[in-house]
Amino acid sequence: MLDFFTVYVDRVHNKKEEDHLFPLIEARGIPRSGGPLAVMLQEHEQGRSLLARVKAVADDFLLGDREQLPALRAAFGPTPSCSRTTSGRRTTSSTRWRSRS
Ligand SMILES: [Fe+2]
Repeated sequence: MLDFFTVYVDRVHNKKEEDHLFPLIEARGIPRSGGPLAVMLQEHEQGRSLLARVKAVADDFLLGDREQLPALRAAFGPTPSCSRTTSGRRTTSSTRWRSRS
């Protein structure tokens, strides 16, 4: 699972967006800062940070060191990018950005 997020989600999907899609969006007049592009770039960085935190303890846990379980749970912890409305609905980049406008 970690490999999927590291290899496909970050190195393939996110990199493709950052190298190709985001520059096209920016060229069409959407600024890189203060809007949806900034939110998406921030989410990519948060994802990389979460993957690094989890990987730091997951490898030992998967090799049988069960004492790493509390650290592994803590590594997943609450992420700033995940938020829910009062009705419990999960917000996304675009809904959070729209709510700021
Ligand atoms: Fe994406």
